[in-house]
Amino acid sequence: MKRHLNFSLKKYNTFGVDSVAKEFIECDDEEELLNYLRNNFPGNYLILGGGSNVLFTKDFEGSVIHFNKKGIEIISENDSSVLIRASAGEAWDELVEFTVKKRWYGIENLSLIPGTVGAAPIQNIGAYGVELKDCLVEVEGLNLQELKKEILPADNCNLKYRSSIFKEKLKNKFLIIAIVIKLSKSKRLNLEYRALKEYFHDKSFDDIDIEDVRNGVIAIRKSKLPDPSELGNAGSFFKNPVVNADKLDSLQSLYKDIPYHKIDERIYKIPAAWLIEKSGLKGKRIGNVGVHKDQALVIVNYGTASGKEILDFAEIVRAAVYDKYGIELEYEVNII
Ligand code: FAD
Ligand code: EPU
Repeated sequence: MKRHLNFSLKKYNTFGVDSVAKEFIECDDEEELLNYLRNNFPGNYLILGGGSNVLFTKDFEGSVIHFNKKGIEIISENDSSVLIRASAGEAWDELVEFTVKKRWYGIENLSLIPGTVGAAPIQNIGAYGVELKDCLVEVEGLNLQELKKEILPADNCNLKYRSSIFKEKLKNKFLIIAIVIKLSKSKRLNLEYRALKEYFHDKSFDDIDIEDVRNGVIAIRKSKLPDPSELGNAGSFFKNPVVNADKLDSLQSLYKDIPYHKIDERIYKIPAAWLIEKSGLKGKRIGNVGVHKDQALVIVNYGTASGKEILDFAEIVRAAVYDKYGIELEYEVNII
């Protein structure tokens, strides 16, 4: 375990915002961390993984806990499936790459999502028609109120679109140390997402293998999402809003081409990127902050923007969408 005082978080957030934490604790051993916390529990703390879904709007006057234990192990397997345990500090995409090489099906559509394994359940990461909840078995962690280890079965984690119990009741109260996922050994591809269908339009299912899917997802992502090592960002800044049938009807009477995705008879999801683009904001820039030119849901830091400037800009985007469509966009990024 290492402790640093007055620690710059610039390299620990993909927006590249300069924020200083009063204390930064990095640790790769849960017993050591538990013992330390039993004697020195910080009054104000924040759990941080790779910082790819946070926006620091000021310095952090407390302790940042960065649990970076790595490791991937096979717990059990049979002819049809395999159970894998991955530690929180493992890079998510390295876990995906490992499983794709083994030809174990389930998380290939989640290729190239930045960040750590430990953060994956927090917003139930999702992309291209797949969410973590489709394969998550259980979450191991430290209950930071009772300072003991605990295992939560996936069914108790309230996993839904971009949310979970860890963003609600257990927000910042449960430090994830590992996850267990179940993958299939028999071919099971999900190619329903529009961008994937288009990518594979000239191939039949039998000609597509798991590596093609990983490569396809990576190619699609690279074509529109900015690489945080080149341009600061945290992926989608807002969640896609959900509206009821009446609201969709009234929007359709004004905007015939509005895209939507049916969740059930009463609920529809609308792409926030479309609302932002049609509000005339795609590519808009104020100072060092802007809406990305290729993906309107992504807000970018062109250089030295502060977290506060980025948040103020996001508020301008939110207000414009509300004024035009009467829809309040919700942040996906965790504002600190
Ligand atoms: P952080 O940003 O460090 O933390 C995120 C939240 O999780 C914070 O609230 C933090 O307190 C909490 N947390 C982190 N680690 C732990 C832990 N061990 N225990 C308890 N709480 C913890 N997300 C998607 O779902 N789909 C996408 O397609 C996607 N694409 C992206 C593309 C880009 C270019 C970028 C920059 C981001 C994208 N994201 C996407 C968002 C992000 O990658 C995910 O939310 C990721 O899971 C965050 O991981 P992290 O380790 O960086 O978490
Ligand atoms: N669109 C626009 N303008 C744009 C971009 C998109 O109008 O600039 C419209 C198009 O109609 C397009 C639709 O939005 O068909 C959907 O676009 P896309 O497939 O790019 O997905 P998204 O809804 O913008 C979501 C996730 C992404 C995830 C992709 C792929 C959320 C908040 N975002 O984006 O997740 O990678 O789908 O599944 O749900 C993230 O969470 O950080 C993230 C990047």
